[in-house]
Amino acid sequence: MFTLEFFTGTEMTDIKKTQHEEWSSRFAFILAATGSAVGLGNIWKFPYITGENGGGAFVLVYVLCVALIGIPIMMAETLLGRRSRQNPVNTMVLLTEEAQADKNWHYLGWMGITAGFLILSYYSVIAGWASAYVLKAFFGSFFSADAIEIKGIFYDFIASPIQLIFWHTLFMVSTMWIVAQGVSNGLEKSVRFLMPGLCLLLILLVAYAMTTSGYFQGLNFLFRPDFSKLTPGSVLTAMGQAFFTLSLGMGSVMVYGSYLPKSVSIAKASIIIASADTIVALLAGIIIFPIVFTHNLHPDSGPGLIFQTLPIAFGSMTGGWLFGILFFVMLVFAALTSSIALIEPAVAWLVEGKGLTRKKACIWSGLATWLLGFGTIFSFNNWSTFKIFDRSIFELLDYLTANLMLPIGGFCIAVFAGWIMKPHHSEEELNLPKPSHHLWKILVCYVAPLAVFLVFLHVIGIL
Ligand code: TRP
Repeated sequence: MFTLEFFTGTEMTDIKKTQHEEWSSRFAFILAATGSAVGLGNIWKFPYITGENGGGAFVLVYVLCVALIGIPIMMAETLLGRRSRQNPVNTMVLLTEEAQADKNWHYLGWMGITAGFLILSYYSVIAGWASAYVLKAFFGSFFSADAIEIKGIFYDFIASPIQLIFWHTLFMVSTMWIVAQGVSNGLEKSVRFLMPGLCLLLILLVAYAMTTSGYFQGLNFLFRPDFSKLTPGSVLTAMGQAFFTLSLGMGSVMVYGSYLPKSVSIAKASIIIASADTIVALLAGIIIFPIVFTHNLHPDSGPGLIFQTLPIAFGSMTGGWLFGILFFVMLVFAALTSSIALIEPAVAWLVEGKGLTRKKACIWSGLATWLLGFGTIFSFNNWSTFKIFDRSIFELLDYLTANLMLPIGGFCIAVFAGWIMKPHHSEEELNLPKPSHHLWKILVCYVAPLAVFLVFLHVIGIL
């Protein structure tokens, strides 16, 4: 069976077993990779950064980035992993040797490990918010509450470091416990009901959003581009979000690729995963903005946006009590399937590179992530006025990882797969018809790296 056990990175024998079960393997791969891609990035982050960056034009840039930069780089990252069948650090060592390239390429694996660790430190805090909201939903806190009360609930909650620490700790312990088990069968199975369940609930909420008076205003905000609202910074954020939401640029996709049977089409799988991921994000936007406009909330309310809007829906719709609980439970699970992928490169490296037992590797990397998470927790209360480069610790971590490290990682992956690797090696892995391979080559050699480069120049102010 092609299970999430492939995360452990060392069980090469599993790969051989899988090669006969083609359909099931491809399906399992797509499920697992979608599980890593779909998470807080789609449901929490996409709506709030869309709100902060003016809506339609930002969404358009984001979708273009997914299609023109995200998909080709996802194919590149998967093919690097499948070629080496190793963890990201070893992959870069191995492939650099194969291509007789410069040893500095080894750093790419390192940057990925660092990025995953930094992302998880704040990801876990937000996943903690979602966990707390399961309880709030259960105790009927949202029942008949209006927008002002819901806002009050949220601000009271984030003002309390003790509560945030409690939920962050709970989420980190759960993540590390699952990772320490080598990722159990149970989690893989949970992805199978999680994805369809999450989609169903989202569709139900879309139906609710359609009944609100702000529905068309919400759609307008989301889909009618107003290019005057687009700044160089928001273009960078849109591009960063494309990387973040597809889990690209830090070796996670490489690890998945390393367990992929040769028979699976990397191109098809990447297109399916990216499409599913984008659809979930857009659905979240279609739900949230109508609620924002119906209740005179501000689209640019920041990271609390979904926690200030969705509870209004649950508090007023029929069956809202049950749907509210289910929704936040699923959000926590969606976050878990991403968080285990975020920390796995670090754990795999500690085990394979440093000789630690899996348990010890989990404890150390978990402890470090947990501690770093305090920076994010205090950004929302005690240290909210403490700014570095005009950003709170949470904003700085987010900017550093999503807007800088992931695009730079993706850029290097594209350059490596497009320019450094021997052409016949990438052809062999992708196994595409000539015209499609040609298109990929153009995207990965020119379009993607150039786009990332130009956006950076633009942000620095050179262009
Ligand atoms: N894609 C995840 C989300 O949208 C977050 C994420 C970013 C991630 N990079 C990752 C998950 C690497 C796993 C691995 O929520």
